[in-house]
Amino acid sequence: MSEHYFSESPTSPDERGLIRTKLRGFDFEFETSSGVFSHKRVDSGTRLLVESMTLPERGRVLDLGCGIGVVGIVAARLNPALEVWMTDVNSRAVSLAESNTKRNGVKATVRQGNLYEPVGGAKFDLIITNPPMSAGIDAVVRPMIKGAPAHLVGGSAFQLVVQSNKGGRTLSGIIDETFGNFEVTSRGGGFRVFTAKRP
Ligand SMILES: C[S@@+](CC[C@H](N)C(=O)[O-])C[C@H]1O[C@@H](n2cnc3c(N)ncnc32)[C@H](O)[C@@H]1O
Repeated sequence: MSEHYFSESPTSPDERGLIRTKLRGFDFEFETSSGVFSHKRVDSGTRLLVESMTLPERGRVLDLGCGIGVVGIVAARLNPALEVWMTDVNSRAVSLAESNTKRNGVKATVRQGNLYEPVGGAKFDLIITNPPMSAGIDAVVRPMIKGAPAHLVGGSAFQLVVQSNKGGRTLSGIIDETFGNFEVTSRGGGFRVFTAKRP
């Protein structure tokens, strides 16, 4: 059976690759591997999220389900005053996210674990995610959304990208139910970015 990109400990051969790309006007290099999400190129949803994300001026940002670290690394590059955390369940992704921070000359705290478990009681000024839809909405994505308010300071934001015709309506419903508000802050290529504010 083929392995999923959200395996905790991938057993597929660790075949490395390098993605060179421009995001938000800066050049980045990301080392990738088989067994992680988007191992050939930056995913279109990730790109839309990165190009449209609204970063706080200061404080902590969580890239939840960071994969090889694209979102968190761009955030750290755009605003070095931020304390960026990146977490993922996949050990290979976490190890690449960690080395990719160094490769791109930024600092971030990178931790492995399920959902919000690796951040403990930490609170954030922004939680941003391209969620693992293939891991299951009820099993993983709903708890990612439902768990967000407890890890956000008042007045902060939650941003999520999803393919409009692959769960977009369901996720917007869960976000609305959780936060009592949401806006579509960006759209393109069949994806939408939803932004909700923690009251
Ligand atoms: C769609 S990918 C996005 C990766 C990266 N943020 C990007 O945009 O390139 C979702 C990520 O969530 C991770 N993931 C899956 N289940 C998880 C869980 N229970 N807790 C934390 N991360 C999880 C996967 O391993 C994967 O790296």
